[in-house]
Amino acid sequence: MRSSIRHYSISLAVIFVFAVLLLNADLGSCGCFKRIFSFGDSIIDTGNFAYIVRNRPPGPPSVPPYGETYFHHPTGRASDGRLIIDFYAQALGLPLLPPSLPEEKTGQFPTGANFAVFGAMALNPDYFKSRYNFSVPFSWSLHDQLASFKKVLTRIAPRDAATKSVLSESLVVFGEIGGNDYNFWFFDPVRRKDRNTPLRYMPDVISRIGAGVQKVINLGAKTILVPGNFPIGCVPAYLSIHKSNASADYDQFHCLAWFNAFSRRHNQLLKQEVGRLKSRNPSVKIIYADYYGAFMEFVRNPSRNGIDSPLVACCGGQGPYGTGHRCDQNAKVCRDPSRFAN
Ligand SMILES: *[C@@H]1O[C@H](CO)[C@@H](O)[C@H](O)[C@H]1NC(C)=O
Ligand SMILES: *[C@@H]1O[C@H](CO)[C@@H](O)[C@H](O)[C@H]1NC(C)=O
Repeated sequence: MRSSIRHYSISLAVIFVFAVLLLNADLGSCGCFKRIFSFGDSIIDTGNFAYIVRNRPPGPPSVPPYGETYFHHPTGRASDGRLIIDFYAQALGLPLLPPSLPEEKTGQFPTGANFAVFGAMALNPDYFKSRYNFSVPFSWSLHDQLASFKKVLTRIAPRDAATKSVLSESLVVFGEIGGNDYNFWFFDPVRRKDRNTPLRYMPDVISRIGAGVQKVINLGAKTILVPGNFPIGCVPAYLSIHKSNASADYDQFHCLAWFNAFSRRHNQLLKQEVGRLKSRNPSVKIIYADYYGAFMEFVRNPSRNGIDSPLVACCGGQGPYGTGHRCDQNAKVCRDPSRFAN
């Protein structure tokens, strides 16, 4: 299964999200949490994928211009700078979260670890293979991340009480995860014409996320942040691949209306799932994080956020949305990434 990661195509999952949205969030260094544990995909992976493919010819996100603005070298983050999770860590007065895989067998992770992997899905690749004969281009799903998490916990806090104590002092960031379950379908040259199937498997994506959250609760987690999906209809890759002649396909911000409605549907179901988890686990704080709304702030008020064209990618090709080339050493790169939302 894991060898299928070889067939990755970066253009799929790379969504540059400048986490400046959190710069204004005055969380302070409250010292509330001793650790952060996190799960997800390229939106939050701080180096696990780069570690998995370290013996292969270098590619995104292990090549320039990734990392250029903050770290001044690629760190395995799918961004020019910090990811949202880095801003969370800094806001909570914790060091940047180390990727889990390089130290999976040895690390003590005194301030937590990040289990997220670039390209990961909520559902297992087998789900798509058996139902739709669809071989997705990545693996390392949520299932693998949770299994690795459990292995690490068993090592660093072996007794049940120790695990519970570690987790009760931790913030668990559960996602964003699930975006790739849709990206792979909507970017596939053949399957993308069928828009109904993803609507049909959406409830399975949601229940897989819900089951994962319940799993970390059962291990002892007391505070869990569950981010929703972005407005994918405003994402350059979607705008380019699903370009339409019909003006009715676009909303007033020139985003693809159907795809944004799709994301809102996912988020609505996810919020319902969070509600169910809350009533089942009344002593646990489960927080839905509105990434859709945060991203839309850039789209609605670009100039207020110092952004020129919110629907154009900083790194890519000559296409109308800055797409047409994957973001790597040979891509066209904008001069000032801070003026871009993607
Ligand atoms: C499944 O997909 C493979 C490769 O895309 C194709 O060769 C095969 O015919 C498909 N099988 C079915 C039952 O559709
Ligand atoms: C869009 O317009 C172009 C040029 O007018 C035409 O060739 C193409 O078939 C149109 N596509 C759709 C989906 O209507």
